[in-house]
Amino acid sequence: MSIKLSSGEEIPIEMHKTRMVQKIQLVPVEQRLKAIEEAGYNTFLLKTKDVFLDMLTDSGVNAMSDNQFAAMMRVDDAYAGSMTFYEFAKAVEDVLGYKHVMNVHQGRAAEHLLAKVYAKPGGVIPTNYHFTTTRAHIELQGMQVLEIYYDEALKTESSNPFKGCMDPQKLKNVIQKYGKDKIGFVRMEATTNLIGGQPFSMKNLKEIRQICTENGLLLVIDGSLISENAYLIMQREKGYENKTVAEIVKEMCSTADIYYMSGRKNTCVRGGCIATNNLKLFEQIQPWLPVYEGFFTYGGMSMREVGAMAVGMREMVDPELAGCSVEQIKYFVNKLSKAGIPVVTPPGGLACHLDAMKFLPHVPQPEYPAGALAAALFISSGIRSMERGTISVDRDPKTGKEIMADIELTRLALPRRVYSVSHIEYAIDRIKWLYAHRKLVKGLKFVSEPPVLRFFLGKLRALDNWGKDLTETFKKEMGQR
Ligand code: F0G
Repeated sequence: MSIKLSSGEEIPIEMHKTRMVQKIQLVPVEQRLKAIEEAGYNTFLLKTKDVFLDMLTDSGVNAMSDNQFAAMMRVDDAYAGSMTFYEFAKAVEDVLGYKHVMNVHQGRAAEHLLAKVYAKPGGVIPTNYHFTTTRAHIELQGMQVLEIYYDEALKTESSNPFKGCMDPQKLKNVIQKYGKDKIGFVRMEATTNLIGGQPFSMKNLKEIRQICTENGLLLVIDGSLISENAYLIMQREKGYENKTVAEIVKEMCSTADIYYMSGRKNTCVRGGCIATNNLKLFEQIQPWLPVYEGFFTYGGMSMREVGAMAVGMREMVDPELAGCSVEQIKYFVNKLSKAGIPVVTPPGGLACHLDAMKFLPHVPQPEYPAGALAAALFISSGIRSMERGTISVDRDPKTGKEIMADIELTRLALPRRVYSVSHIEYAIDRIKWLYAHRKLVKGLKFVSEPPVLRFFLGKLRALDNWGKDLTETFKKEMGQR
């Protein structure tokens, strides 16, 4: 939530107190340079001993609540038939409204099972926007992902409150072009990850549901970030201003045939699930669970995490948890935007996203501006962000050619209840410093490149050794820190 100060300024306010802490350290800039060079200019390969603020992701790194820790202690650790699973299933029914649920070890495991069970060889999966692992699993099943957003979605600076919507006319065109039999399912990602955490509206979700019903197509919601999408609907959509996040989440879920989520984000644990009210669909997926994940009452998760997820499921519809990162992101984005820094607007869920092509207009896209910006930001601040641009898109498997990303973003994720406003102020300051010195930053070149999801393990080098120049300038102007 946010609170208005007597000056009129609105700031994010933490509705929790901190009772356990983890020490972090800000190492000297020369050590930061050495660390990023060893990591092949890939922030995934840094070690946390060198990282000050870890804004790589909001996945699996959120602060858990006292009640979640308590649930972990009193868990029923049976291999089969654990009552903790049934507590989780009850939480799913109460919060999401689904009668049937199975755990999976994380979100991509759900994507694997759904892509496998609903594979249409040579077919397509229309979506508002893909996520990296979603696309990988769909393509591994011989299908193609079709992104059918409104044109506005790719405008990084915008005042459109719902850039995550799917274009219903484009969906109708896809159905006409490919035929229903070639469509595995239609996928709506709540708070689209790769285009800047942008939500879709309830109105749009219902239009898409209607088209799916008319054409006998399955509608799948990726609810990994559903509570942020619901919070933004509450703030931005007419008719929802007086509804609760809990009511909005349930209404969203009521439209889907199948729901899945990574539990690492909204429920603040390490796991995931697939849920539905349709027993027939459930029975198509469930037999595969023990093959790839585990017996159906744990699904590859530790029972302790299932217990904590049951609590997290209820807590994620608390407006204070649903809104905690949204409000921090709003503060972060608005301040950068006022300072003339190119950021994705309007602020969404998940992260503050820098528009790397505008930040570094002199770095051509084949030299990975978003990856270069993430590395430069680490050198000048110790903040670990993530490249969400062309490095995150694999080459065309047939031709080996680069596929340029639609947009080049450097993402600073806000894990829930982890960082304070002073941390955000520090980030804003160092981003401004870097913007003033942006000409020092040049491109990157791969030195080793894995064939799939290359952004995780790929190594690159700085063209013209720009990391050293940036470090020297930082040291001259700012000292070691
Ligand atoms: N769907 C969405 C929308 C996601 O954001 C993620 C993960 C997944 C699926 C896959 O879930 O990691 O539990 O297997 N996003 C993380 C991120 C990795 O950093 O944005 P997972």
